[in-house]
Amino acid sequence: MLHGIDLTLNDNEFVSIVGASGCGKSTLLSMRPVSDDFDSGDVLVDGQPIPGPGLDRGVVFQSYTLLPWLTARGNIEFALKAAGTPASQCREIAQQHLELVKLGDAADRWPSELSGGMKQRVAIARALSYRPKILLMDEPFGALDAMTRHQMQQLLIGGKASP
Ligand SMILES: Nc1ncnc2c1ncn2[C@@H]1O[C@H](COP(=O)(O)OP(=O)(O)OP(=O)(O)O)[C@@H](O)[C@H]1O
Ligand SMILES: [Mg+2]
Repeated sequence: MLHGIDLTLNDNEFVSIVGASGCGKSTLLSMRPVSDDFDSGDVLVDGQPIPGPGLDRGVVFQSYTLLPWLTARGNIEFALKAAGTPASQCREIAQQHLELVKLGDAADRWPSELSGGMKQRVAIARALSYRPKILLMDEPFGALDAMTRHQMQQLLIGGKASP
């Protein structure tokens, strides 16, 4: 159970929430007022209550969340289309973001053909691709080997993705 949480995030802030396993980090990230397990309080974005998931918030979950019936590229294109990106641009943007996470040549593979770390990198590329205002990531690099994790951390903080 989470209670007494009071958290304000400002523009351009990079905040890490650290705590022991089971303390409620994932619960906090998935919190939304309109749900059975939410008793009281508000979750506001730009001062407005949020009713549920929205395209202004990109999320990379702790477990893999690719759509199994779409390829790596298809998963990203799906999010781009949902975010209103013109269809003519989706393929190129998806490819660019796959290359960003070093998966440019795995674009046509199905999630079942990708390793755990590769799936997680597609999820990261997908969340970055449509430029959400807020990016929420729940231990996004947990499934990655040390070298890839370092590359992805550099990518996220705006450095170079290559070692
Ligand atoms: N669906 C659920 N039903 C009941 N209890 C749950 C559920 N999901 C999580 N919990 C409980 O809520 C608490 C917080 O879980 P949560 O997943 O938020 O932890 P966490 O800080 O993200 O842990 P980890 O670092 O292991 O990912 C835990 O005690 C867990 O057992
Ligand atoms: Mg968790």
